[in-house]
Amino acid sequence: MGFVDLHSHVLFGLDDGSPDLRTSLSMIEALAAIGFTEVCATPHQKAGQFLPDLADIDRVYGELQAAGGAATLHLAAENMWDDVFFERSQAGTIPSYDRGDVFLFELRPTELPVGLVDHVFRLRLAGKLPVMAHPERYEALWDDDDLVDRLRQSCAFVVDLGALAGYHGRKQGKVARRLVERGLAHAVASDAHTPEDVARAAEAIAWIKKRLGPDAVTRLLDDGPRAILAGELPE
Ligand SMILES: [Fe+2]
Repeated sequence: MGFVDLHSHVLFGLDDGSPDLRTSLSMIEALAAIGFTEVCATPHQKAGQFLPDLADIDRVYGELQAAGGAATLHLAAENMWDDVFFERSQAGTIPSYDRGDVFLFELRPTELPVGLVDHVFRLRLAGKLPVMAHPERYEALWDDDDLVDRLRQSCAFVVDLGALAGYHGRKQGKVARRLVERGLAHAVASDAHTPEDVARAAEAIAWIKKRLGPDAVTRLLDDGPRAILAGELPE
């Protein structure tokens, strides 16, 4: 099969990811070179910071696809859990993977939204699959295994490869490695903003292989993300 990247900022000129088409193509080529056959573009949707128009996202996605990169592209978004997200959640219009029932979200690192566990539970009951970006980043989860367990019943946990390789802070790296070692991560993803981030992702994949073996690589980068895209919460 091949690896599937559930989280990347390969679309150009929309957020703090790729600045131009050339960089986007070189990021996708670098991802393909380390084994990714499918790359999901997940530009930020974050009120007050990076909230590109959905029409602009579609246009850039079309341009990148037309340029013929080295991997198959999917379109999604990284939805910050803010007022815009909340309205879209009520209206059933959260930007999702290939306009289906699976969507990627992130939270503010220092404070979880009130009622988060209930909200994701209700979304899951309604047939959605919430996918949590970089769970290692949220302080409330650092020392609360019970909260991790409750969230994992409704959300897929997708750890950043860059965190795993130690580039997102000491504590975040430790938590990322713990989530992966204990089998609590459903998948891992590049969250690549730059070509350098892809090199960091490669370091993390090498670490997974050495520490946990090739089956873990397949589970976290191939089977896991494919199940998630199909709307299933992997074991
Ligand atoms: Fe991201």
